Amino acid sequence: MNTLDPIGIFDSGVGGTSIWKEIHQLLPFENTIYLADSKHAPYGNKSRDEIISLSRKNTEFLLRKECKMIVVACNTATTNAISVLRENYDVPFIGIEPAIKPAALQTHSNSIGILATKGTLSSHLFHLTSQAFTDNISITEVIGKGLVPLIEAGILDGPEIIQLLKKYIQPMLDARVDHIVLGCSHYPYLIPQLEKLIPPNITIIDSGAAVAQQTKILLEKHNLLNTDDRVPLLQFFTNSEIDTLQLLLRDYTDRIVIEEREF
Ligand code: DGL
Repeated sequence: MNTLDPIGIFDSGVGGTSIWKEIHQLLPFENTIYLADSKHAPYGNKSRDEIISLSRKNTEFLLRKECKMIVVACNTATTNAISVLRENYDVPFIGIEPAIKPAALQTHSNSIGILATKGTLSSHLFHLTSQAFTDNISITEVIGKGLVPLIEAGILDGPEIIQLLKKYIQPMLDARVDHIVLGCSHYPYLIPQLEKLIPPNITIIDSGAAVAQQTKILLEKHNLLNTDDRVPLLQFFTNSEIDTLQLLLRDYTDRIVIEEREF
């Protein structure tokens, strides 16, 4: 492995591009390969074994491309599969988990909400983290059923999204939460809509910036940080149609390459 090798990033689909953007902003010279496994999205309703097997497939694709590090830009894959990935592949992994800790540290109402997939909320890792930081704090967990397929289809606004978001935040509003944790890398794309539906005293937290920081720290620790300032190669692979990736990455069109590929 050397510093010019790419950082590999995968998600069940297009959502992890919210994490890629944070990583690219913090580490603009790093070469990156993003894998959108949209053909198998959503992961959130699949069994742990299925999520592990898809995560292994994605990891092996990225390792064939000589990635020096892998960012699992998917809460569902992280909470269900990252320990297996770390045991089986000799490359540093970074995962993303719902940001319960900062929400628990900052809450004044002692009540926080979490919107995530069924796979994340039912995982052992999520329960461990949640128990570790939320003594005396009430957590309202809500499964964001139906949101990922809409985002995968490029639908980020409109009546269907608003109706689902209203339904999902109501129990949180009833519980007087002052923080809503977005526990799925697809959901940051819904922040503009969410903000219109909640009072201004509620803070929305997602983990993207923290994951980017962690990526930098781990690259430094392994002496893998790219110190070269040449224009990076920013590749995106999807096993579905490229339209939604193009939409979400429209601000980067002149700098990125998107390819459809079977994997
Ligand atoms: N983006 C994913 C996550 O962070 C997965 C959503 C899904 O495929 O269900 O959980």
